[in-house]
Amino acid sequence: MSRHDDIQRMRELEKTLEYHSHKYYVENAPEISDRDFDILLRELQDLEDRYPEEVDPNSPTKRVGSDLTAEFESVEHRYPMQSLSNTYSSEELGEWIDRIVREIGEVEFVCELKFDGTAISLSYEDGVLSRAVTRGDGRRGDDVSNNVRTIGSVPLKLHSEGYPHSFDIRGEIYMPYASFDRLNSEREAAGEPLMANPRNAAAGTLKQQSSQVVAQRGLDCTLYNIAGDNLPFATHWEMLTAARSWGFKISEHMKLCSTREQIEAFIAYWDTERKNLPFATDGIVIKVNSYTHQRTLGSTAKAPRWAVAYKFQAERALTRLISVDFQVGRTGAITPVANLEPVQLAGTIVKRASIHNADQIAALDIRIGDMVYVEKGGEIIPKITEVELSERPSNSLPFEYITHCPECGSALVRYEGEAKHYCPNSTDCKPQIIGRITHFVGRKAMDIEGLGGETIELLWHSGLIKNIADIYDLDAVQLAALPRLGEKSAANILEGVRLSKDVPFERVLFALGIRFVGETTAKYLASHFRTLDAIAAATTEELAEAEEVGAKIAVAIVEYFAAEDNRDIIERLRHAGLKFEIEEKVQTSSLLEGKSVVISGKFVGRSRDDMKALVEEHGGRNLAAVSANVDFIVAGENMGPAKRQKAEKLGITILSEEEFMAIIDNQEANNKSESTKTEVTQQTTQQHLDDGKAIQGTLF
Ligand code: IVH
Repeated sequence: MSRHDDIQRMRELEKTLEYHSHKYYVENAPEISDRDFDILLRELQDLEDRYPEEVDPNSPTKRVGSDLTAEFESVEHRYPMQSLSNTYSSEELGEWIDRIVREIGEVEFVCELKFDGTAISLSYEDGVLSRAVTRGDGRRGDDVSNNVRTIGSVPLKLHSEGYPHSFDIRGEIYMPYASFDRLNSEREAAGEPLMANPRNAAAGTLKQQSSQVVAQRGLDCTLYNIAGDNLPFATHWEMLTAARSWGFKISEHMKLCSTREQIEAFIAYWDTERKNLPFATDGIVIKVNSYTHQRTLGSTAKAPRWAVAYKFQAERALTRLISVDFQVGRTGAITPVANLEPVQLAGTIVKRASIHNADQIAALDIRIGDMVYVEKGGEIIPKITEVELSERPSNSLPFEYITHCPECGSALVRYEGEAKHYCPNSTDCKPQIIGRITHFVGRKAMDIEGLGGETIELLWHSGLIKNIADIYDLDAVQLAALPRLGEKSAANILEGVRLSKDVPFERVLFALGIRFVGETTAKYLASHFRTLDAIAAATTEELAEAEEVGAKIAVAIVEYFAAEDNRDIIERLRHAGLKFEIEEKVQTSSLLEGKSVVISGKFVGRSRDDMKALVEEHGGRNLAAVSANVDFIVAGENMGPAKRQKAEKLGITILSEEEFMAIIDNQEANNKSESTKTEVTQQTTQQHLDDGKAIQGTLF
């Protein structure tokens, strides 16, 4: 591989990892297993070690992942929350132990279960729980105190004596299998999508807006680390024992070990025995016991050197592959699904498994009649990971992938760089039509109540809807005449249709179902281009200027608007009154009146487009390039060096995100105090005011 290829691969890995972090931490809906994620992360880390000058300061290797959402107050951890290095092999574990023994000599280790939940930091002041914060990006997390207070095993006041005056204790919030099964059966009964695994269920529950809901979900919390100043312990073990006496739930399943053999025996025992635990574990954490030794070993940017997580091989089962079905998605993508002889796997009976595409079938040489291994990753449907060749029937034949759509008979196509086959017949292939309409009316899209999957099929069969625009031509008489739909449901549907006309533009854009334009991309596109017409008129180069939009997405968008069918549908939707423009924020002040501003780089608190919107809200003008006309620049984390040099040469003021926000906050606080005629007394606001004024003095 050439240097050029390697660097391209780095950029690709950064994007892929960022995407999967978002899926995991923000959406609680991972698409790949932790192991696969770690393999990619390691590949990136290796490349970064080789090309340190090419490392992006925002690389996924630089952060622990983030679960920040807008709804909870984001607060700073008093002590940063680190992650753990993972290992999957006993050789690597051996190397880790050897390194420590080389550096320190013989040491004691504590082996613990690795709980598969979501990390939490609890702060206690004088024995009282003062706040509970999620890990977030390791420095800041979400304040979820009210939700955590509902968890029975979290002590609100400590028992006994001897605890430090102020400390943070860290642990895992998890959902025991019993609570998880109950939750999923309730969701199934209510027709809601199921949770993939207890970890997602725990993380999702913790971010619920209503703490009442949290209280009913049966979460649990176990603690395993402590952070504070001058803690009165010499060892980790001593700390855990004391913490247990103060009322914390500390696992019973721990062991002090001094040799590699003892550690391996602990791992081997729990690799089997964990199947009998009432909660999910995904490995064993090994920690150096002595705090003095921990301090000597120190930490890397991401994880301590004194601890490591040994991850268990995902549970797998061996069963026979009976047949393969091919499902057609709303984009025409074909997904093969394996039908298996039912087999018990990690607490459930598995009958179906996914095999992602033709390449994977070929790579694993999967054949009908084979004995195959199935594993559960982060997804609900397990996947086939290997064929047991020793049990292959002698008369087996290589798998022949389908060449035509199983639904409509069209010849399948493969697009360049894509692993999947596609049915190109988007206008007449039933599952594609139904899939697109179902996507369009979905909760995160147009949110049209009353139009579920069955009703859509009914409307399609009766010829009332063939595409998404037809929804806006439905009338009460036609609807009420359909079997199983009375006047009441008809009125319900029409009310949902009417309300959908108020759905904001970014959701309309997502609802259109343009390939690769998910919820987040739709938001970025909407805030960058402001109107649907601007997006439709943009070239691929212009599209790729919006944040998070790469060449692949840009091409898909251009192709979408090039198709006449789509353009017709768009016109009909426009006619129906859907929102095709972002709601412009009104100008709130003239603070930046007459000022030309360049927003450059990546920002921590908000997107680049949000920063630009702020400039406009305050009467300023955004410019793309640095020139003598520019009044000041707001520089994010990775503003290009050329831009910075030019600005310095021209003597243009460069503000950091914080400095700029101090000015804006100052103005907004002034606005508020003027309108309500109250004094701004809060200390923090006052501080910003002072900061803002000082900077403002240098600017205006
Ligand atoms: S110690 C500085 N101990 O695993 C070390 N972590 O993959 C902090 N976890 O972020 C972690 N069980 O959420 C530790 N017995 C245990 C654990 C544990 C589960 C989680 C924790 C951590 C993640 C790292």
